[in-house]
Amino acid sequence: MPVHAVRPEEILAVPAVSAGLARVERRIRRLSASSRLPLVNRAAGHITGAGGKRLRAALTLATALALGGRIDGRTVTAAACVELIHAGSLVHDDLMDGAAQRRGVRTLNAELGDARALVVGDFMLARAGLAALTSASRHVAETLAAVVVELAEGQFQETAELFDPARTPEAALRSITGKTASLFRASCVVAHPAGRTMAAYGERFGVIFQILDDLLDLASTADRLGKPVGNDLRQGVYTLPLLLALRHDRGELRSHLGRRLTEEEIAFLLTRLREGRMVGDTLEYCRGLAADALAALPAVADPEVAAVLYALPGAYIDRAESLLAR
Ligand code: IPE
Ligand code: IPE
Ligand code: MG
Ligand code: MG
Repeated sequence: MPVHAVRPEEILAVPAVSAGLARVERRIRRLSASSRLPLVNRAAGHITGAGGKRLRAALTLATALALGGRIDGRTVTAAACVELIHAGSLVHDDLMDGAAQRRGVRTLNAELGDARALVVGDFMLARAGLAALTSASRHVAETLAAVVVELAEGQFQETAELFDPARTPEAALRSITGKTASLFRASCVVAHPAGRTMAAYGERFGVIFQILDDLLDLASTADRLGKPVGNDLRQGVYTLPLLLALRHDRGELRSHLGRRLTEEEIAFLLTRLREGRMVGDTLEYCRGLAADALAALPAVADPEVAAVLYALPGAYIDRAESLLAR
């Protein structure tokens, strides 16, 4: 089917979405520079200006086009707020994960230390909420505030389950629904007064997106990804692909859980996981979720926008498949 034959970036390059993204970009830049403290602006701009795919903003714009046929100033603000929340959550995530690189630049925790990274992340989350309230609508502000709650809960749950050999696939799903899929869902919900009709699509796409990120951490290579692999095992995050692999384990995998691993053990586990059923089972799981996501889409009048929404989950699955180690 031609639906899966294109790369995600191409799908999002439809003219109406990319024109909207240019406006969103300017709005993100203004919001990131809106503190009275120049150092806060520099720090926020360091991350928001370093790129990022703007996938969530694109989802907001595509949803607005799908449901209302147009992108207005409120949509642009809502999309910028979504990206600012995403970026703030990345600042906090990198602090929690002790990461040194994000979007090809040094993280704020590496650059400024944990304490300043923490409050710059707070600034970004709160600034987005304020802009949503003053320049979008109460509906947008409420939706985004509720998402920040879910992000925090999802991230908290992950830390509470680190190195837990009894972590279940259901628990992992709950955590990624909070830490990642809630913002994808909200990206759709804030796009339009009828955005709720796209909530299930957005959430399922978000779950797929995070599972694929988790799969690549276990089954790709540093060369292909441009970042080290095995980070989740190193940090004790037992992600859904690993938990799916455990269902067929005769004890070899499980004997490595519940403790810190040496680099040799990580390399051994990654090899074993790649040889087994993890990759196939995870991709199959994601394809099932993608079918559910498409089934949840409301009718969309504009054929070009409908094609984007239809193709997006499958295109991300295909892209992940192309990045696997072989
Ligand atoms: C990274 O998200 C965090 C995850 C949910 C895996 P993205 O891959 O969308 O990050 P940017 O915005 O492109 O940097
Ligand atoms: C992604 O978390 C960040 C959030 C969803 C807040 P991860 O720790 O799993 O992802 P990366 O690999 O750092 O982007
Ligand atoms: Mg991280
Ligand atoms: Mg993390």
